[in-house]
Amino acid sequence: MKDVVVIVKNLWKYYNYMGHRIAILRGINATLYRADIACIYGPSGAGKTTFLKILAGLERPDLGEIIVEGYNLTLLDDDALATIRASIVSYIPQDYGLIEDFTVYENVELPLLVAGFSEEERRVTILETLKYMGIAEKMHTKVRYLSGGEKQRVAIARALVVTPSLLLADEPTANLDWENAKKVLELFIKINRDFKTTVVMVSHDARILEFANRKFALYDGVLKEV
Ligand SMILES: Nc1ncnc2c1ncn2[C@@H]1O[C@H](COP(=O)(O)OP(=O)(O)OP(=O)(O)O)[C@@H](O)[C@H]1O
Ligand SMILES: [Mg+2]
Repeated sequence: MKDVVVIVKNLWKYYNYMGHRIAILRGINATLYRADIACIYGPSGAGKTTFLKILAGLERPDLGEIIVEGYNLTLLDDDALATIRASIVSYIPQDYGLIEDFTVYENVELPLLVAGFSEEERRVTILETLKYMGIAEKMHTKVRYLSGGEKQRVAIARALVVTPSLLLADEPTANLDWENAKKVLELFIKINRDFKTTVVMVSHDARILEFANRKFALYDGVLKEV
């Protein structure tokens, strides 16, 4: 029996646009298993970010269910969703979402502060994670002085520091040339192998599909496995 991590059932999301109700996600169904690497390709505006944010519990669907590690996100209140994000699910936004005036260390510390780790636990965990990501020597550098590839590593480190079982990455290669993009994709594969993390990446670059064992296309709010 394969170990189910994510179940998405008949997921619909609408936005209002100039007085009209537009369906952005139209009845998405998917099941992801432990240690899957799922890549979702879709053009701009297809609903990729909307879908990832709903998986992360950052947005709520209008209809349907999302079950992550047995938790039905649609039934949880905002506090419970915050707890899920501090432990089970990590979301890496497209623009990294780092605080530019904080150091690398301080950025990676944030989720551990939210999760209530002691100072010593934080120090040990942060050092271990930064070493794993190959960015420990930049620990005391402010994020604003890092290159795009380094920022992406810090963003991954911050997501990884709580050892989530589901790691969501929004356009992880968008701001990188293909050589650096491949390095980032290989890092996700390493994380996936080392920790059995289920990884979901979305991109408008179809080249990411070759790194996945589960390949999806999202067009006009409809998800199809390819
Ligand atoms: N909060 C919102 N209110 C209204 N419309 C929204 C909102 N968020 C997204 N949309 C619209 O929903 C559609 C899908 O947006 P989304 O950001 O999910 O697409 P995407 O596939 O991530 O695109 P991109 O590749 O450009 O990042 C777009 O048409 C967008 O304008
Ligand atoms: Mg997007």
